[in-house]
Amino acid sequence: MDIIIKENYEHMSLYAADIIAGYVRSKPDCVLGLATGSTPIGTYRELIRKHKEEGLDFSQVKTFNLDEYLGAGMDLAKPYPLDQSYARFMHEELLKHINIKKENIHIPDGLSKEPKKFCQWYEDEIKKAGGIDLQLLGLGGDGHWGFNEPGSSLGSRTRVVVLTQQTLDDNYEAFYKKAGIERSRMPHFAITMGIGTILEARNILMIVNGAKKAGMVAQCLEGPVTSQVTASAIQLHSGEITVVLDEGAASQL
Ligand code: GLP
Repeated sequence: MDIIIKENYEHMSLYAADIIAGYVRSKPDCVLGLATGSTPIGTYRELIRKHKEEGLDFSQVKTFNLDEYLGAGMDLAKPYPLDQSYARFMHEELLKHINIKKENIHIPDGLSKEPKKFCQWYEDEIKKAGGIDLQLLGLGGDGHWGFNEPGSSLGSRTRVVVLTQQTLDDNYEAFYKKAGIERSRMPHFAITMGIGTILEARNILMIVNGAKKAGMVAQCLEGPVTSQVTASAIQLHSGEITVVLDEGAASQL
């Protein structure tokens, strides 16, 4: 595992974007696993810059997103930020700015009428695409990957989950509140790739910033592997792992 410590969020983001761009250049039809949250926004901005200024080509790239709120999906009738679906987030923060083909984008369907069936379909689509070459991950405040909350099996697959109070609080502060959406209208359920699904990605790139998450970073990288900190499953991965932190996030290592 390579742990890279950068002085701040911007440098963390540039470093992560370089890694992703390296995959896209060396394997133009690579399969990327993508994440949402405030952490990857800087990385996505740099990828957009590389596309516009350096011609980084996404025309053959396939993407699979980690998760989506249940009851949310991209609603073109609603202006951003009122539509807080992860589909909309991805569209606004990355996908609409690059030359990726629509049919190559996969985001869990939060509006599915049969979410359980959808989860199986999603797993099958990842396999059909040949598996994920590089999975980008953030770290939830309670140590989760995707929406694999504490207690999720480390062998879990794509499924419907209930969000914990801490995740609701964190994501309300970071997104819903800023968008002026009432707390009561925030979805409490989600679809997420499982930890078992994530661990099948050939390589992992995790990015974390801010001293607030330093304790969780230490538990995840140096503590026991436990379903109470689902991202600690990173220690079980056998591929190439790169963790890029800013100084704050690395301060308890
Ligand atoms: C959400 C997402 C996670 C993400 C986490 C951290 O819970 N489901 O995939 O890693 O938020 O978000 P942030 O980057 O905003 O701290």
